[in-house]
Amino acid sequence: MIKAVRGTRDLLPPETALWNFVETQAREVFRAYNFQEIRTPIFEATELFARGVGEETDIVSKEMYTFRTGDDPRWVLATKWLVTRPKYKKIEQLRRPGFGQVFAGLREDDVWEIVIVEIGAGGPKLAALKKMQAERQSLASAAGERPSRYVLVVPSSEAQRVSGLINQDGIEVQGLEMPEGYDPPESLTLRPENTAGVVRAYIEHKLWDRGLNKLYYIGPQFRRERPQKGRYRQFYQIGAEVIGPSSSGSEHPIRDAELLEMLDTLLRRLGIADFTLYINSVGDAQDRAAYNDALRKALQPVVGQMCADCQRRAVTNPLRVFDCKVPEDQPVIATLPVISSYLGEASREHFQNVQALLKEAGVAFEVNPRLVRGLDYYTRTAFEFTHGALGAQNAILGGGRYDGLAELLGSPQPAPGIGFAIGEDRLVMALQARASEATAGLDVYVAPVGEGMNRKALRLAGDLRREGLTVELGDRSFRLKKMFEAATKAGAKYILIVGENEIKADSFSLKNLATGEQVSVPRAELAQRIREQHSR
Ligand code: HAM
Repeated sequence: MIKAVRGTRDLLPPETALWNFVETQAREVFRAYNFQEIRTPIFEATELFARGVGEETDIVSKEMYTFRTGDDPRWVLATKWLVTRPKYKKIEQLRRPGFGQVFAGLREDDVWEIVIVEIGAGGPKLAALKKMQAERQSLASAAGERPSRYVLVVPSSEAQRVSGLINQDGIEVQGLEMPEGYDPPESLTLRPENTAGVVRAYIEHKLWDRGLNKLYYIGPQFRRERPQKGRYRQFYQIGAEVIGPSSSGSEHPIRDAELLEMLDTLLRRLGIADFTLYINSVGDAQDRAAYNDALRKALQPVVGQMCADCQRRAVTNPLRVFDCKVPEDQPVIATLPVISSYLGEASREHFQNVQALLKEAGVAFEVNPRLVRGLDYYTRTAFEFTHGALGAQNAILGGGRYDGLAELLGSPQPAPGIGFAIGEDRLVMALQARASEATAGLDVYVAPVGEGMNRKALRLAGDLRREGLTVELGDRSFRLKKMFEAATKAGAKYILIVGENEIKADSFSLKNLATGEQVSVPRAELAQRIREQHSR
């Protein structure tokens, strides 16, 4: 038997009703604060997360689902032999769309090597190309052959730029064209979080021009963590981001306070009371540089006793030492300096303003000077809400400010931002107790009895559904007793009998399955009657 993959799960009714309830409430609250929905792709270029979330974070270094797609460059290298040897020219693969055209203009004995140059943000990988050329040349002269020449396959839009670059470098180039239909190899990753994707979309579509600076999303995320209660490999987030040019006020502490007040409102509206909001400031880029220096210094004498990950982090990104879960390392980590001692004047003032505004808004919080969050993009305000009843995985949501992220991802102008993501799986767990309230349930089970009643029952059920009721339709193959059993099992509040006599009288027997009370109700009053009982 094939089962759901480890760390993933099926969400089944009636729990799915609870998920819908949570999502509906969230959408309503977001609308009241003028957020609009964005849906970004489930997979993105790996580089987006490497740059955005940070290479040294657990998410990027250990937990991402990454895969390569596109045409395999090895295929192209293999075809070089076909191109250089006329007798193979008719081989099937050369009829592949696009490649034939590239090769058609070449003189066979010119071609030594075919190279795919991937044009990423960093430009063509010329260094690699030059190295290869040098090797080839020495090989070729040793063998008494002519020096190498290359066919470069690049997107046509880049052809001129690349050709300029390459000629400058003295590399001889024969063909410059991306065959039609060619899928360049790329590294893709299932999104482990949605902030990087939202900021990418913000830049790509110049959303600042449209004044779109409050966006929310609901959807699955993927992290290859060790599964346990409240921790899954496919999990769901409900998140929101406020992002915009400085002129939009996205940097102001009022945005931080508004966002946290919105979360407080949403959790209370969902009936969750047992939560604590922890906040901290992780400083701006300058504060962080000073803090990282201090951490490196503090780590130097002790890092030898720490785990291999921490030894690496101490060099590359010392802040990430705080993500360490190794029990033996914790006493060392507890002695490290805290970021609050390294905050500059501007960060300190921002943090104080946020706190004052939260008090003004009546949002309770605690400052946790050790809260740094596990993603690199945070600056200044960082926060987490924990929930008492959740056990080890008690962070129900997390977020913070990310003032430099847009520039890091290529924005032409600064676009400070702040946002959060709720772990929807954990939120739903915290709400399990309220499950019955969220389940709307089945209002009425329509039971046709007697010959030819199916058609009438179908129409009646349709009428009631158009009135907004939830209706299940039985069929005449069941006896009445069976029908009662089916209605009870389906959780219906009423059963409605559709028989010969009822049709004639245009009045139907409606039985309350909980109380056993049965009344005859004229067709026109049915929906009204069912709804009345319901709201009592
Ligand atoms: P995060 O803290 O990595 O932040 O995740 C946010 C929330 O997602 C966590 O507090 C937790 O409730 C939930 N979560 C994370 N991993 C799992 C998992 N494996 N299983 C179940 N739930 C999980 C972010 O993702 C940031 N993008 C938040 C943000 C938005 N910051 C600024 N804007």
